Amino acid sequence: MSRTSPTTPTPPSPLATRLQGIGPTIFSQMSALALRTGSVNLGQGFPDVDGPPSVIAAAVEALQHGANQYAPGPGVPSLRQAIARHQQRHYGLELDPDTEVLVTTGATEGVAAALLGLVNPGEEVIALEPYYDSYPAMLQIAGAVCRGVRLRAPDFRLDVEELRAAVTPRTRFLLVNSPHNPTGTVLRDDELAALAAVAIEHDLVVITDEVYEHLTFTGHRHTSLATLPGMAERTLSLSSAGKSWSFTGWKVGWATGPAPLVAAVMAAKQWLTFTSGSPLQPAVAHALDHEPDFPGRLAADLEGRRDLLCAGLAAAGLPARVPEGTYFATTDISHLGWADGLDFCRSLPERAGVVAIPAQVFYDDPSAAGPGAQLVRWAFCKTPETITDGLARLRSADLQR
Ligand SMILES: Cc1ncc(COP(=O)(O)O)c(C=O)c1O
Repeated sequence: MSRTSPTTPTPPSPLATRLQGIGPTIFSQMSALALRTGSVNLGQGFPDVDGPPSVIAAAVEALQHGANQYAPGPGVPSLRQAIARHQQRHYGLELDPDTEVLVTTGATEGVAAALLGLVNPGEEVIALEPYYDSYPAMLQIAGAVCRGVRLRAPDFRLDVEELRAAVTPRTRFLLVNSPHNPTGTVLRDDELAALAAVAIEHDLVVITDEVYEHLTFTGHRHTSLATLPGMAERTLSLSSAGKSWSFTGWKVGWATGPAPLVAAVMAAKQWLTFTSGSPLQPAVAHALDHEPDFPGRLAADLEGRRDLLCAGLAAAGLPARVPEGTYFATTDISHLGWADGLDFCRSLPERAGVVAIPAQVFYDDPSAAGPGAQLVRWAFCKTPETITDGLARLRSADLQR
């Protein structure tokens, strides 16, 4: 006799309620699909060329010379000092490296520790929808209420009236991301000024994820929210070396801002990871101090790859909105007869040998009825050869539903 019968009830999920409804991240699903099908991966945002060799040499040097035990919880002093210098150089912000700078395990841990360390259950956090997918997940884990303010297709700009309308008596935080993943929008000064005005008027703390701070294109410039009048004292800025120096696998990030905000992030971080990878920290300090021009060169190079991708997508019948920054461009696929971008992306490896990301997963309603259902995100942080290969495959494929 079989040990189970069709009537055997499925055992209840062991998953804690705080994680229920949060699926596996789309990036691991789609990158696994790319590997399995031998597809060109224009999905996940990681470059296929590493950052500066001198930074790798600094990591090797650190590995070989004893940086192999726990680093101090807040990060090694040389990196905290280099981060403070970086913030000074780019934004004119004066930070105390001992109290106003914290090293995190990527910006991902920065987001997690900031939300766990600062946000109380039931408090409302306004965030820009579509969201980088760790935000809604971490807000749910923190017991917070996420209020989305949508950057609407096709131009993905901030609607200031919608922002103002999203504020309630329970709103405590703005969670901002610019340059913005997945849309590629770089918030303009007037949009940032509107965010700052709302934050000041309602006494909100701003958590700003600026991991693409250096990856902006001609005609667009990133302004750090902390530099606006009245904002330094209420803004926690998050960033990391992953995107700017092409070391996404290193997971070295930082949180900077007023000492009480940074202390709250540290209070959570100490129970998440306690400290971040020792040998990579001096290497990232080296990147910040000795390879300061790398991110600018990378941005200029990425701009060429953006143009290559966008022109090729248009030629393949998939015109994309030309992004102002980041690694990503977005196409509306509705004209091809697809109601659901997830279906399109699932069929793309077989039809074309290419993987892309269905942008609907970044919306509150990820269903085919949701606002992002026909948007597909492409990454151009790949070599021109990879992009060209992906485009050739798309051009010769039948992409109609
Ligand atoms: C907006 C945004 N924030 C944070 C991260 C994660 O950064 P890190 O790799 O430093 O954890 C990413 C990576 O894609 C991102 O796009």
